[in-house]
Amino acid sequence: MNNQVTFSVIKADVGGWVGHSATHQRLLEAAHNRLAQAQTEGVLVDFHVTYCGDDIFLIMTHRRGDNDELVHRIAWEAFEAATQEAKALKLYGAGQDLLSDAFSGNIRGMGPGVAEMTFEERRSETVIVFMADKTSAGAWNLPLFKMFADPFNTAGLVISPALHEGFRFEVLDVRENKLIVLDTPEEMYDLLMFIGAPSRFTVRAVYNKKGEIAAASSTQRLALIAGRYVGKDDPVCVVRAQSQFPAVGEILEPFAWPFVVEGWMRGSHNGPLMPVAVHQAHPSRFDGPPRVCALGFQVAEGHLVGPRDLFDDPAFDEARRQATLIADYLRRHGPFEPHRMPMEEMEYTTMPGIMRRLADRWQVVEGDGHLAQPAVTGETVDD
Ligand code: 13P
Ligand code: 13P
Ligand code: MG
Ligand code: MG
Repeated sequence: MNNQVTFSVIKADVGGWVGHSATHQRLLEAAHNRLAQAQTEGVLVDFHVTYCGDDIFLIMTHRRGDNDELVHRIAWEAFEAATQEAKALKLYGAGQDLLSDAFSGNIRGMGPGVAEMTFEERRSETVIVFMADKTSAGAWNLPLFKMFADPFNTAGLVISPALHEGFRFEVLDVRENKLIVLDTPEEMYDLLMFIGAPSRFTVRAVYNKKGEIAAASSTQRLALIAGRYVGKDDPVCVVRAQSQFPAVGEILEPFAWPFVVEGWMRGSHNGPLMPVAVHQAHPSRFDGPPRVCALGFQVAEGHLVGPRDLFDDPAFDEARRQATLIADYLRRHGPFEPHRMPMEEMEYTTMPGIMRRLADRWQVVEGDGHLAQPAVTGETVDD
């Protein structure tokens, strides 16, 4: 029986309430109305509109496959409708992630983040949607590696015959626009060489060795698309669970430890990724720390049975507490690395402007470190 379903999550920040901290209900309603219309027209089987911080996530199921022009257009129109509300309320950064005035066929490359996958719906189909705010596309590298390749995280890699063969990682070089496929456990060390540098290499998808899709993530780097700082990517990742894939608990386990990601204030700081329930996804302290939410669904004939808010669990309290301690520790570095992101990552902020303004002020030094002329001339000032 052909029971293919496409699970599409398309997300954007089209205005923050207050500052960059949260999403106003009127924006969610505007997006909801556009998707409800698409469901009535039979384009979408089901949908759920939600948020993480100032980003709206459109979770949609349909029968039209990946990269469908109509589904992408509907998502774009939902964000446009939400932008109208954001403008009326004068929210912060209204329309921030819609980098183009008009939709042109495929939403990829136009600002919003996209994670979508098409699969044959299993006897029981469990899907988890991870949504992050105040971080960038590579934030999923570490948890995806742990879920699908680390036996200390995923017991099933050792114990379950269905997982024992390992998984296949599709890695994108976001700067050079190149893709490589690496198998685990065989090529684990090669894989880590690349994905350990998440600002350049991002895990785009994970498959099992039979070629079944297990995970898909948004890889859009807003700054690379816009050529300037317009906000962080605030990525999404969709993961299938149970049976031939890791269990729900194995998929959530990497987030029980708040690892450090880039993003946070002005998209220019490293900070801990704090797992939270949606009702706690309001990054406020120093515009953070970065947040991640996890919504679980069972998919039944394309319908979404859920969401279950999976980090709404006291078992993640300790991760939240640790994240706060790490936030305290990193914050005390102020404008210094490694709290502030390294120089190369600052090239889409005000850094190039400062470099240009001070270009004439840099003096050439001799090989021994001495200046040809005294650096400070001590000119006398005439009264
Ligand atoms: P403004 O400089 O426009 O206030 O933007 C800063 C910002 O968005 C960081 O929160
Ligand atoms: P967002 O990327 O979530 O809009 O945050 C921007 C920012 O500058 C926060 O300080
Ligand atoms: Mg914002
Ligand atoms: Mg955001």
